[in-house]
Amino acid sequence: MKTIFVTGGAKRIGKAIVELFASDGWNVIIHYNNSKADAEALADSINLKNADTAFIVQGDLDKANEVDNIISKVDGFTETIDLLINNASTFYPTPIDDISEDHWEKLIGSNLKGPLFLIQGLKEKLKASNGSIINITDTNLTKGVANYSIYSAAKAGLEAITKGLARELAPEIKVNAIAPGAMLEPPDVTWTEDQKNKIIESIPLNRMGSEQDIAEAVKFLAHSEYITGQVIKVDGGRSL
Ligand SMILES: NC(=O)c1ccc[n+]([C@@H]2O[C@H](COP(=O)([O-])OP(=O)(O)OC[C@H]3O[C@@H](n4cnc5c(N)ncnc54)[C@H](OP(=O)(O)O)[C@@H]3O)[C@@H](O)[C@H]2O)c1
Repeated sequence: MKTIFVTGGAKRIGKAIVELFASDGWNVIIHYNNSKADAEALADSINLKNADTAFIVQGDLDKANEVDNIISKVDGFTETIDLLINNASTFYPTPIDDISEDHWEKLIGSNLKGPLFLIQGLKEKLKASNGSIINITDTNLTKGVANYSIYSAAKAGLEAITKGLARELAPEIKVNAIAPGAMLEPPDVTWTEDQKNKIIESIPLNRMGSEQDIAEAVKFLAHSEYITGQVIKVDGGRSL
């Protein structure tokens, strides 16, 4: 049985990835930070259908000791990992005059540092199964987004790591990125109809994306044997 490990897997896009692979019969390891109840409910619902196939692990990706703890917990669940999805992310604006070191630590921690050290700690398990890593980035990087310089730097770093490690970890491990476009409103933000319509007007495929659009792209990459070092934009053509 194959095993997928999804960071930030309790809600939203991470949850959709977990659910798709669980329904395809994979073992799923669901990482969460604050969303304990959501992670437990998701694992319970999967285990009800398929006993002992879903596991949960908590940790703050900003903190090196917690990343180490995640890696040793995962050691206890499985000897091999087929697919690591670096999905967890902190996202908020940082206008230049408001930037503090704390913002830097938070946005770089979950979006860049945590993913890198998770890959380092889990690579032998991925090697053992000729596995894949998929880093979730952001399609807007290519345009430049005002007020998001730290988040953008972190995601751009994650894309750079994707390409470098695709070479370094080949041929055993494939490393790719998926760059979502406008999929969901940020957590705790509600767009007005007007804001939503403006976004939709900028998308050639004429709709917002969904969690499932990203999960399906992950599944496509997971089954591909000859793609590595690529960033696949799943954005309805918005970046064209
Ligand atoms: N939503 C979009 O439209 C969109 C657009 C472009 C790119 N993306 C990318 O797609 C991915 C998923 O998007 P999303 O909107 O579903 O993500 P999200 O809801 O904003 O975040 C996913 C999870 O990341 C976890 N997380 C945040 N900071 C963490 C930390 N320091 N340590 C550990 N976990 C942490 C949280 O887990 P807990 O809840 O357990 O704390 C959260 O539920 C992200 O990488 C995002 O950047 C999304």
